[in-house]
Amino acid sequence: MTEPSRGAAAPRPQSASVTQMTEYVLPQHTNALGGVFGGQIMAWIDLCAAICAQRHSGRMAVTAFVDDLAFEQPVRVGEVVRLEARVTATFRTSMEIEVVVQGEDATTGRRWPCVTARVTFVAIDAERRPTPIPALLLDTDEVKASQAAGETRRAERLSTRR
Ligand SMILES: CC(C)(COP(=O)(O)OP(=O)(O)OC[C@H]1O[C@@H](n2cnc3c(N)ncnc32)[C@H](O)[C@@H]1OP(=O)(O)O)[C@@H](O)C(=O)NCCC(=O)NCCS
Repeated sequence: MTEPSRGAAAPRPQSASVTQMTEYVLPQHTNALGGVFGGQIMAWIDLCAAICAQRHSGRMAVTAFVDDLAFEQPVRVGEVVRLEARVTATFRTSMEIEVVVQGEDATTGRRWPCVTARVTFVAIDAERRPTPIPALLLDTDEVKASQAAGETRRAERLSTRR
């Protein structure tokens, strides 16, 4: 597992950058079947993850890679899209952010899974060059396991990098 300290700022807890967004589905967000466009959900995922990445790194951050997305159940007009992003692993200048997206019927409180995304962000400096970020604080067994799993996924991503 990656050592937590690499010369950047002190390690930061996962909880410090957890980011939640709530969106109400309007007709302009939907396709002909009345469900949210996949591309709209992807845009919200990117925004939610970007805020999380900036909160963790204290830097501007750009999207470098998006893992496969599988949409499980639709969210329709008049329903709510809930997004929650957290840093699941950090590397030298990049970080893996997981975004869990749920649908919600605000009138009943019922929630259902929509999609889970993993996005890699790279922190950049004023010259737009990749710049080191604080490590994730490995303060619980869950976060340690998350970092280890993220390192395995990163190796797979980079093995296919062009
Ligand atoms: C992402 C970007 C900054 C990487 O720049 P680069 O010159 O390739 O930099 P490096 O090779 O030094 O890589 C920097 C980091 O990005 C990571 N990275 C780059 N491509 C990656 C990929 N396809 N998957 C996962 N990580 C990737 C590297 O592993 C490295 O991480 P590390 O420092 O934690 O080890 C650059 O490709 C870029 O600006 N892309 C466009 C970003 C963009 O416009 N996004 C959409 C709008 S926000």
